[in-house]
Amino acid sequence: EKGGYDHFMLKEIHEQPDVIKDTYRGRMIVNEGIVKMSSIDDHLEKFLNADRIIIVACGTSWHAGLVAEYIFEDLARIPVEVEYASEFRYRNPIITPKDVVIAISQSGETADTLAAIKLAKENGAFVYGVCNVVGSSIARETNSGAYTHAGPEIGVASTKAFTTQITVLALIALKLASEKGSISKSELHQKLAELESVPSKIEETLKVDDHVKYISSVYKDAANFLYLGRGYNFPVALEGALKLKEISYIHAEGYPAAEMKHGPIALIDEQMPVVVIATKKGHYEKIVSNIQEIKSRSGKIIAIVTEGDKDVRALADHVIEVPETSEALSPLVNTIPLQLLSYHIAVMRGCNVDQPRNLAKSVTVE
Ligand code: M6R
Repeated sequence: EKGGYDHFMLKEIHEQPDVIKDTYRGRMIVNEGIVKMSSIDDHLEKFLNADRIIIVACGTSWHAGLVAEYIFEDLARIPVEVEYASEFRYRNPIITPKDVVIAISQSGETADTLAAIKLAKENGAFVYGVCNVVGSSIARETNSGAYTHAGPEIGVASTKAFTTQITVLALIALKLASEKGSISKSELHQKLAELESVPSKIEETLKVDDHVKYISSVYKDAANFLYLGRGYNFPVALEGALKLKEISYIHAEGYPAAEMKHGPIALIDEQMPVVVIATKKGHYEKIVSNIQEIKSRSGKIIAIVTEGDKDVRALADHVIEVPETSEALSPLVNTIPLQLLSYHIAVMRGCNVDQPRNLAKSVTVE
């Protein structure tokens, strides 16, 4: 059942190249620069006339929503707000019939997300679901939606659900961008070709496993970890920290790298491992200077870098190389080493990786 892997989580990490393909298959024709999603086509006016898109979700799915915010605003030029479902539903939010609400949920059963959807519908918004579990409550409650094709995710720590959610959301953003004309035909074609190449880049990235295992052995007894990223990779930092917390019980925080100087930098000393997502596309120069700030305070730097990187390598204690990927799709690749890092640390600490304490796979209570 675990396909020869020691844990479901590891199996699910390794399934990502295949399930991302399953998720985009049939939804794009790369050569023709076409995104085919009937769930959007059938309601295209709702999306194109929306004042804004509100994304509601919890946990890892909320992180996928944050990545989507960058993609939607960047490519489709539609304003996006991302909300914790639990906060949204209880704060008397302003919702109008001109809002499109996208609910993201692996299980499709998360109580707060379901309640947020009901509230949005009562206020006349159009609600679209991105779920993994077919026929789940959220899939049934939404007006339309697209399934991720991640297959059953058994490990409590979400891995393949996250990357397939981003895949679907990227397709939606590209679909809307092409309908709105906010990107050119050739850009669309190029972006779709990049998405098509992501699974092979993840295959390549999975080869860092032994090196990540070594890094895990060095830091497995740390009391705290910081994760830093900027732009598209800020949510990846949050996701890396959540993964470490939930399965290894090490306190970890994710931060936008530039926020360091507004407080968290006080935490840095030689005991503090700092995981920095420092791949080439994006705010590379800025990230290099953030790394210098950590280095000058003796923090230990574990950097995710683009293959062949020299500048960060010269500063970091450890580098993990990943293939070059466009910025918008880099979260799909950059998240892989972070999943492996949390996995190996948890195993080395003797934790129950697939069923961490105090957690359930679906949070059906408020
Ligand atoms: O099933 P959902 O996507 O709605 O679940 C949301 C969160 O409970 C979930 O992502 C949780 O944070 C994971 N355990 C994180 O790995």
